[in-house]
Amino acid sequence: MNYITVNSYKELSAKAAQLIASVVTLKPDCVLGLATGSSPLGTYDCLTEMYEKGMLDFSRVTSVNLDEYVGLDGDNDQSYRYFMNHNLFNRVNIDKARTFVPNGLAADPEAEGKAYDEHIKALGGIDIQLLGIGLDGHIGFNEPDSRFVPETHLVDLHESTIEANSRFFASREEVPTKAITMGMMSIMQARRVLLIANGAKKKEIMEKAFFGPITPEVPASILQLHPDLTVIYCENE
Ligand code: GLP
Repeated sequence: MNYITVNSYKELSAKAAQLIASVVTLKPDCVLGLATGSSPLGTYDCLTEMYEKGMLDFSRVTSVNLDEYVGLDGDNDQSYRYFMNHNLFNRVNIDKARTFVPNGLAADPEAEGKAYDEHIKALGGIDIQLLGIGLDGHIGFNEPDSRFVPETHLVDLHESTIEANSRFFASREEVPTKAITMGMMSIMQARRVLLIANGAKKKEIMEKAFFGPITPEVPASILQLHPDLTVIYCENE
C-alpha cells in the first residue's frame, strides 16, 4: 500500500488527478471506476482543467460508477448520475454513452446488480477505481456487515450514512434509504485502487481501515489486501 499524507485538499486533488490522468494517457481506452461524494470534487476539477488545457483526452474512455440511490432517476439533482454529469462528464469529452451508473430505478435490483457485474467483466475490468470513504468505513455503499459482499447489490443504508448524506438534501426525510452498490469483487479486481479522504473527522476511520484488522465491520479494510492500492489523506478539510 502506498499511503500518502498531504497538507491541503488542493494537493490531494492534484495528486489523485495525476494518477488517474497517467492511466488515461497510458491507456486511452481505459475503464475508470468513479465515485461520488464531496471528496472527489477537487479531483474532477483538476481532470477538467487538464482536459481544457489539451493535456487529457477522454474520447475513448469508459467509466463505471460505484453506486446509485434507489428511487432516483438520472435527472434528479440528488442522483449520482446527475452528480457525475454535472461534475465531470459534461465538462470533458467523454462519450456519455460509455458512462455507466447503476440504475436506481431498476424493477429488479438483483438482476440489475448481476447485469452490472457482467458488464464490468465484459469491459475487461476496471483499470483504476477511485474511492472515498464513509465515516463508518463504507466504500461505495458497502456498509459495515458480517461479511464482505462480492456482487453489486441492494443495500439498506445505515442511519449514520443517511445522516452524513443528509447535508446534500433539503431534509433528512428526503434521503433515500436504499442504494445499489458495486460489491467488493469488482472493486478488488480493479487493477489499481485509489482512495482519497480529507478532514480530521475521517482520521479515526482511516486508521482503523488501513492500520487495523481486516474485517467486514470496516468495509474499506479489505483494501489492505489489494496489490496496487494508493491512499491519499489530508487531515485538513
Ligand atoms: C457516499 C458515497 C461514497 C462516498 C461517501 C463519502 O456515501 N456512496 O462513495 O465515499 O459518501 O462521502 P464524502 O466524500 O462526501 O465524505
